[in-house]
Amino acid sequence: MENLLKGKVAIITGSGRGIGKAIAELFVEQGAKVTVNDIDADVCDQTAAEINGKYPNCAISCVADVTSKEQIQKMVDDTIAKFGDIDILVNNAGLTRDALIHKMDDKLMRLIIDINLKGTILCTQAVLPNMLKEERNYQFKKVVNFASSTGVSGNIGQTNYAVAKSGIIGFTKACAREYSLNRICVNAVAPSFIETRMTQEKKPDDKLGIPKAMRDLIINGIPFARDGRGGLPEDVAKLCLFFSSTLSDWITGQLLTCDGGTHI
Ligand SMILES: NC(=O)c1ccc[n+]([C@@H]2O[C@H](COP(=O)([O-])OP(=O)(O)OC[C@H]3O[C@@H](n4cnc5c(N)ncnc54)[C@H](O)[C@@H]3O)[C@@H](O)[C@H]2O)c1
Repeated sequence: MENLLKGKVAIITGSGRGIGKAIAELFVEQGAKVTVNDIDADVCDQTAAEINGKYPNCAISCVADVTSKEQIQKMVDDTIAKFGDIDILVNNAGLTRDALIHKMDDKLMRLIIDINLKGTILCTQAVLPNMLKEERNYQFKKVVNFASSTGVSGNIGQTNYAVAKSGIIGFTKACAREYSLNRICVNAVAPSFIETRMTQEKKPDDKLGIPKAMRDLIINGIPFARDGRGGLPEDVAKLCLFFSSTLSDWITGQLLTCDGGTHI
């Protein structure tokens, strides 16, 4: 199927690299105009430039921290000024910083809840005035939130992340109910072990990543896994395309896992 997002405008947070980047690329391939967002300016600008190199004028770069109301509002204003109404928001920006709960300080707990959960809430609030414009009531609008298998099943060392991601599931369901009459579909995806910097092999000084022995153990538990690797960003991007296109117009408030058969 081609052009599933023809004429649509999407904001994808945290899309300078990893899963978000794969989503931005797929959405443009499918006819959308996209706002690439990231807190890291270099990857944000680079991803938008790469997309525009292939599909001219289809992407803008908006460097913004999803925990800052002011920066998010600027991103929304810039998107509307450049492309018009916002049809799709993908709340993909996220971060992990692991520690066992008895060793986790307040700062680490706060940081991960703020980026994952508060960021999702603030970005959703910021796009709603445009999505709720009365003349848009007949159109389907889409919000796709990023949960995680950790938000469903928990994970050792990730209480902060589990709190944030399970909060996102509740937020998704409540928002879906609140805006169903306005045809805003709010759904969530729950990836598990996708190959990005979040799951890469951790070297001694790395903040992100997973020790090799743990990576091997997890990958061995993924039924679909081959060649010693987990899922790819493109696997999750395809699920986001489903939740962002007309293919899912009659679906809201749902959570779908993307995990190669790990959590059935
Ligand atoms: N990789 C996995 O196995 C996995 C599993 C479950 C859920 N997820 C979720 O998928 C999403 C994407 O993760 P990924 O694996 O691509 O990670 P990633 O680290 O490759 O990409 C995340 C992006 O978010 C950006 N970001 C972080 N904080 C930000 C902020 N405050 N404002 C704006 N951007 C910010 C980062 O700079 C980065 O570019 C996240 O929500 C993550 O929690 C990933």
